[in-house]
Amino acid sequence: MFLQSAATHLKSVIAAQYDSVSRSWHPSVAELIGVTAPWLDGPWLEPFNGQHARQQLFRSLLAAVEPYAIFESGSYRGASTRFFWHTSGKPVYTAEKNRNFARYVGRRFRHVPEVKVINRDSREALSLLHQGDHLPVSECIVFYLDAHWNEDLPLREEVEFITRTWPSSVIVIDDFKVPDDEGYGFDVYGTVELSLEYLGAEAVGPFQILWPSCRAERETGYRRGCVVLASPKVAPCLTDLPELRRGPDAIG
Ligand SMILES: C[S@@+](CC[C@H](N)C(=O)[O-])C[C@H]1O[C@@H](n2cnc3c(N)ncnc32)[C@H](O)[C@@H]1O
Repeated sequence: MFLQSAATHLKSVIAAQYDSVSRSWHPSVAELIGVTAPWLDGPWLEPFNGQHARQQLFRSLLAAVEPYAIFESGSYRGASTRFFWHTSGKPVYTAEKNRNFARYVGRRFRHVPEVKVINRDSREALSLLHQGDHLPVSECIVFYLDAHWNEDLPLREEVEFITRTWPSSVIVIDDFKVPDDEGYGFDVYGTVELSLEYLGAEAVGPFQILWPSCRAERETGYRRGCVVLASPKVAPCLTDLPELRRGPDAIG
């Protein structure tokens, strides 16, 4: 019994280390390791950077808006993909540019018809899904944008396309600057910070800006910031959620 729990603990410590160390490895190596030792990215690696408040935010958000489908940009190894599918039971479209990661996630969900892995640039995937009516504009769609990784940042174009195309939608962006809570980390690419200023008023359009209510010091995991953008049709369902607080009405 003692040996078993010690082994479980050791595995979880290794898995947590593996997540940060393996980010710089070639994806084919990660794929090979993931296939031969699936426990490494198994139940010990939690979605949303191990952030429990973020997980609760998503549970409440998905329950409040009851989306028709969820779109994710940046599948990586499918941790958030799995969360979306488990939590909502709705179709999850996940776009991953990197062929090896896409194959890896595709294999992971090969028995789950609700999860569709699209091996494309996220902007291209959004356009294709729109054209094919997989994400109908008449329905509520939740978009989780997490494909920021390289210098070619798709984020502003993703947001602009979504705000112009889906009138009943919610966008959640990971690694985003929460201006009044410095405890949350965010991505910086050269001189570009993932922030409201970077997105700009034109891309955000009439969408309501919301921040996580949980202060960073009470969050768990990697404490990455996020922003929620809700279309005027959907915003009333979200403004009363305890996990969210209202941001500015416009980008200054
Ligand atoms: C931060 S990881 C995503 C993590 C994942 N959402 C999760 O929570 O487990 C970013 C991923 O985006 C992918 N990526 C980067 N640029 C992309 C683009 N333009 N289109 C689609 N995927 C992209 C990278 O290959 C990487 O796997």
